[in-house]
Amino acid sequence: MNKQIIPFNKPYVVGKELFYIAQAVMNGGIAGDGQFTRLCQEWLEVNLGCPRALLTHSCTAALEMAAILADIGPGDEVIMPSFTFVSTANAFVLRGAVPVFVDVREDTLNLDERLIEAAITEKTKAIVAVHYAGQPCDMAALLHLCDKHGLILIEDAAQAILAREKDRALGTFGHLGCLSFHETKNVISGEGGALLINDPKLIERAEIIWQKGTNRKAFSRGEVSKYTWVDVGSSFLPSELTAAFLYAQLEQGESINIHRRALYESYYRQLKPLEADGCLTLPCAPGGKPANAHIFYVLMRSNEARGELIAFLRERGIHAVFHYVPLHDSPAGLRYARSVGQLPVTQEVSASLLRLPLYSDMTIEQVTEVCEAIFQFFAGTQKA
Ligand SMILES: Cc1ncc(COP(=O)(O)O)c(C=O)c1O
Repeated sequence: MNKQIIPFNKPYVVGKELFYIAQAVMNGGIAGDGQFTRLCQEWLEVNLGCPRALLTHSCTAALEMAAILADIGPGDEVIMPSFTFVSTANAFVLRGAVPVFVDVREDTLNLDERLIEAAITEKTKAIVAVHYAGQPCDMAALLHLCDKHGLILIEDAAQAILAREKDRALGTFGHLGCLSFHETKNVISGEGGALLINDPKLIERAEIIWQKGTNRKAFSRGEVSKYTWVDVGSSFLPSELTAAFLYAQLEQGESINIHRRALYESYYRQLKPLEADGCLTLPCAPGGKPANAHIFYVLMRSNEARGELIAFLRERGIHAVFHYVPLHDSPAGLRYARSVGQLPVTQEVSASLLRLPLYSDMTIEQVTEVCEAIFQFFAGTQKA
């Protein structure tokens, strides 16, 4: 019998998605801002604790909305990590701003708050906190810095659905928070995202930007007699089909994360002896307990060892991948952004980080299979 492949990621269907999509179709209108969009938004507002959530068609779109709402313009500087996905930077470059890359911490791989003050100039307008792997940035320190320097705090919480720091959901600390429901995330809708508007002063304008720069939302509430073009904006809202799929997933969000945490904790426990032997470094989640278990990674001792382990696992039908190619020395990063210092942690981590398979219906037996293969790899390299 052929051995089953263990993919890196597999989109997970909870069960009610098609039922809700059928309901959306029967509702008679499948454009955006219908019943399921409202249900999802209310779910996010209640369960994450924010005054207003707007669904978007991706986290990229939510970041673009955040850049408009933060009034980012040509020449403004926005502090962010280089160790992130391109959308974190692109959203601000689209408004003519300059991303300013600061190095990440060695433990969480999140923005190193101790380096930020040196990066602030009179052009600095905002800080983007990326919660890598769903693990929290030091939000107390970032809030303090933003307060002190009058900066806007935007959370790129693409990977952080239902992750909490001291009982407060990630994405709800900053003025604005951006979530992703891309099929690689914990809660999915194919493509999808949401903007969390935590500063009530920004809500009215957010609704206008979301609806192509019109006051259509006020019109649908009966507050104006006709709707018209009032501001810049774009088509940021997803269709009801996407929202219906997403609502089924949100309802199961907590149980998805409970299972993912069990998988993560199993990886952590099983691989601990390899860390003790100095073969690799495990991710930093206090006590091996992750916030939402979005990613399980290991840090290898070298780029070469990472390549060898990827090939070794692939021969055994196990798909492991690496990321990020850092933004600061990418072609667009060199053209549009600047860095503060050499970013040594970013350089080292991007050369050595390896993501292991982790998906919502993976089994503990599959985690054990991956761990056993990793042990075999190290047994082989130590003999050699
Ligand atoms: C940190 C980060 N920001 C933004 C995004 C973009 O998300 P989306 O694919 O929903 O646009 C991603 C996607 O992986 C991400 O990891």
